[in-house]
Amino acid sequence: MTQAQTQAPLIDPFARSIDYLRVSVTDRCDFRCVYCMSETMNFLPKAELLSLEELDRLSSAFISLGVKKLRITGGEPLVRKGIMTYFEAMSRHLASGALRELTLTTNGSQLAKYAQDLADCGVKRINVSLDTLDDAKFKAITRWGRFSQVMEGVEAAVTAGLSIKINAVALKGTNDSEIHDMVAWCGARGFDLTFIEVMPMGDMGEEMRLDQYWPLSDVRAELARRWTLTDIALNTGGPARYVQVAETGGRIGFITPLTHNFCESCNRVRLTCTGQLYMCLGQEDDADLRAVLRANPDNAPLYAAIRNAIARKPKGHDFDYSRQKVAGEMSRHMSHTGG
Ligand code: GTP
Ligand code: 5AD
Ligand code: SF4
Repeated sequence: MTQAQTQAPLIDPFARSIDYLRVSVTDRCDFRCVYCMSETMNFLPKAELLSLEELDRLSSAFISLGVKKLRITGGEPLVRKGIMTYFEAMSRHLASGALRELTLTTNGSQLAKYAQDLADCGVKRINVSLDTLDDAKFKAITRWGRFSQVMEGVEAAVTAGLSIKINAVALKGTNDSEIHDMVAWCGARGFDLTFIEVMPMGDMGEEMRLDQYWPLSDVRAELARRWTLTDIALNTGGPARYVQVAETGGRIGFITPLTHNFCESCNRVRLTCTGQLYMCLGQEDDADLRAVLRANPDNAPLYAAIRNAIARKPKGHDFDYSRQKVAGEMSRHMSHTGG
């Protein structure tokens, strides 16, 4: 490897610096959230998956090229067999200082088992997807999930000293009556809370998608009826914009792909569990890094393939519901690219 191959930062055609890699380590999940998956999902044959060693090599290649933040996603990342071996491997990049943050987005179901191991690997903060605090609604949204299991996971994460951010997709007719309770609960527990606008990914019908869509401009207005919200400059490296809640001291993030496009500050790309690199969540183009990885024991062609892919990163997504129709939808499920 020459210095030139690794030293130039990854910059895309729109002058955005790419230093955040999201790695989906499995497309499988132990839940079936209605907005994310159909009940009868076909998963990839296990033989298609990158091995843990290959995931290590690919992730490490990105880190050599300047990636500073690694977020492990899925499906549910903690259902991947042997996943702690991969976290342990990545922790060497924290130790060397090459990586600034190693983290994950999880549904929380396996945290009781893994929270301490994650902390031991240098994970400091995790994002837990949780749309409701109501047992029955939780069942309705996740189809297969058990709320009490997630709560046990969250407690284990607290005990392990992990900071927690709760991710809630804003769903009209589902969790709209609960947003104040969630702010109060997160505030009392010292968790950040981020609301997300539902995006048109997967095979849910147009009508249902539009029915459940709740613009975060409306969510924020509703929150402001009860809480004193002040915009703050916090940037966690992801797309959320944050406010501080005076009454709880907590923070609320808003991820608004529909009402306020944040693509111009995009800093990330996504690797799937089969080694496809998606340069944008909302576009089809991908690059097959698995083929390059397997064909070349030397990393130079891999670096070149990554740079080529970044050079094709599109400007942004085309998601749009503004004409009472869903536009820009992706047939790909969120679980494929890890959100
Ligand atoms: P931090 O800022 O590090 O807390 O994380 P993050 O917001 O980058 O990661 P997280 O996995 O919590 O992301 C939450 C959700 O935001 C994702 O699951 C996606 O639904 C959405 N999201 C994250 N990045 C993008 C993006 O680049 N484009 C779009 N359209 N949505 C995104
Ligand atoms: N729109 C917005 N967010 C989604 N997620 C899954 N599907 C969608 C969608 N269609 C979220 C999950 C989780 C993260 C990985 O992505 O709730 O927080
Ligand atoms: Fe980046 Fe694409 Fe997400 Fe926009 S939609 S922020 S360009 S990944």
